[in-house]
Amino acid sequence: MCGIVGYIGDGHAKDIIIEGLKKLEYRGYDSSGIALYIDGKIQVRKQMGRIANLEAVITEKEFDSHLGIGHTRWATHGAPSDVNAHPHGNGDETVAVVHNGIIENYVELREWLSREHGVKFRSETDTEVIAHLIGIYYDGDLVDAVYRAVEKMKGAYAIGVVSSHEPDKIVAVRKDSPLVAGLGEGCNFIASDIPALLRHVRKIYLIENNEVVVLTTGDIKIFNQDRKEVHREVFHVTWDAASAEKDGFDHFMLKEIHEQPKAIEETLSRRLDADGLVKLDGIRMTKEDIESFQKVYIVACGTAYHAGLIGKHAIEKLAKIPVEVDVASEFRYRDPFVDDKTLFIAISQSGETLDTLAALREAKRKGARVLSVVNVVGSSVARESDDVFYTWAGPEIAVASTKAYTTQLVCMYLIALFMGRTKGSLDVETYQSVIRELSAIPEKLRGLLTKEEEIDAIAKDLYRCESVFFIGRGPDASVSFEGSLKLKEISYINSFAVAAGELKHGTIALIEQGTVVIALATQERLFDKMLSNIQEVKARGARVLGIAKEGNVGMEQQADWMITIPDCHDDVAPLMSVVPLQLLAYHIAKLRGCDIDKPKNLAKSVTVE
Ligand code: M6R
Repeated sequence: MCGIVGYIGDGHAKDIIIEGLKKLEYRGYDSSGIALYIDGKIQVRKQMGRIANLEAVITEKEFDSHLGIGHTRWATHGAPSDVNAHPHGNGDETVAVVHNGIIENYVELREWLSREHGVKFRSETDTEVIAHLIGIYYDGDLVDAVYRAVEKMKGAYAIGVVSSHEPDKIVAVRKDSPLVAGLGEGCNFIASDIPALLRHVRKIYLIENNEVVVLTTGDIKIFNQDRKEVHREVFHVTWDAASAEKDGFDHFMLKEIHEQPKAIEETLSRRLDADGLVKLDGIRMTKEDIESFQKVYIVACGTAYHAGLIGKHAIEKLAKIPVEVDVASEFRYRDPFVDDKTLFIAISQSGETLDTLAALREAKRKGARVLSVVNVVGSSVARESDDVFYTWAGPEIAVASTKAYTTQLVCMYLIALFMGRTKGSLDVETYQSVIRELSAIPEKLRGLLTKEEEIDAIAKDLYRCESVFFIGRGPDASVSFEGSLKLKEISYINSFAVAAGELKHGTIALIEQGTVVIALATQERLFDKMLSNIQEVKARGARVLGIAKEGNVGMEQQADWMITIPDCHDDVAPLMSVVPLQLLAYHIAKLRGCDIDKPKNLAKSVTVE
């Protein structure tokens, strides 16, 4: 989704903003632009395509300033083009605006602005109406004009505004789209996400919904909807800038795949005490609360939803509470049965996914207790939840989620264990053995990651295929969905996952000579069933890549390729079986020459519906 960076201070705004925009590239974009205050005017440059295209048109020495805003656009209203790229200005170009989100009533506002104020629009964007509104309301006070404009706007937005009338400030507003302000020395910043600012600041203000931020060179002031100044604690970023760099890997995705053992260790160390028991520090859910839950709803999108599917297996098995899992965009519009006896678990890496946030609000409105599993500290989902279970995976930059997924799984196991013990539905032996199994995962994963060359060799056999089917049973079916998503989103191969038992109810019609089927068979009690499913597809000419635990005999005779994962308890196998699928997707995409970290049409943080 769109990225915003703003700078005011005694440094070079152009370079700082461009550098910040590059740190937001992972969010996904199709064009970029910058507005700087130069010689009494707001000067705008914008270009379709990569930031390099923008850099190519801002080479003039004199094109620099102490004040500016920049933007990477992910098209919503109007095709990707130079004209539709942000920043957008008002009629006399005294105001420039960058925007992330959607102005839902922009058609109405466009008509009103044309009819009542004779505004001529240059672009097809919803954003341009914001610049005109501010221009029209400007009467010697930029902050007042922004407040008046915002009163007219419906939808989700984070905006940054500069004006040639008041070149001593940036005004920014947040409603349902992420926005942070960075506190520097002799300079201040706004951005959509912290990595954009890390090279310059560690002190961050997390801006809340409906707040207006006013930045000058020496100060940041935050105001609420009623124009009253609010006091906000500074959030100190502890992770270093290097953790948001590639660190010698060709891609962020590969780096993040290899970071999984460490990330899981971190997740576990935050939640296991010295005796190896699950501790829920900071989570206020009591024994009575847990006993009162009659149902758990897990709601998320994409990969996080797939983590929720594994969460269902874990909670139902260990805590004996019925669980429903839903994609957030469906949940929020279907009047689900939720009440004060419901535990609602939202899972989100970014904590800014709009559908997940909306579903969470809906569940809260209906009285549910909200626990979120989130990676980005201080994000919207985290802030609006009753309790937060951070994944502590560190920044995940690649669009394709990897370490966020595995750490989300660990959180789901820990939540299930804690609930099971608290309710008394889980005996001590099982509880301890699952914790032992979880604690052994990082080391086992390190071993598994050494098989990358083997997986690359399989990728060389497969990267030209047109479609791939994933099958599995039980937790393996859920991992299949994730494996399939990973492959299609970065390699653009048409992939499809189906519970293996469902094959013969339709999908098997698509299996023919040479079709590639990836069969996951890590579950002991379902192993023989999976062998039968493999035979079914082999009989129709499929070529099969089998994924099973070391020591499982029987599959190698049938599979054309095999990847084994270290032996482990069935319940925690998804933490390992997903890793070869991530690596396979990565190497296939690389062989196909795809833009792995920034796949086409996708965004890291989906802040629109
Ligand atoms: O930030 P979130 O976890 O809420 O994001 C949800 C999905 O957009 C995300 O998991 C997406 O499916 C992944 N990029 C896929 O790899």
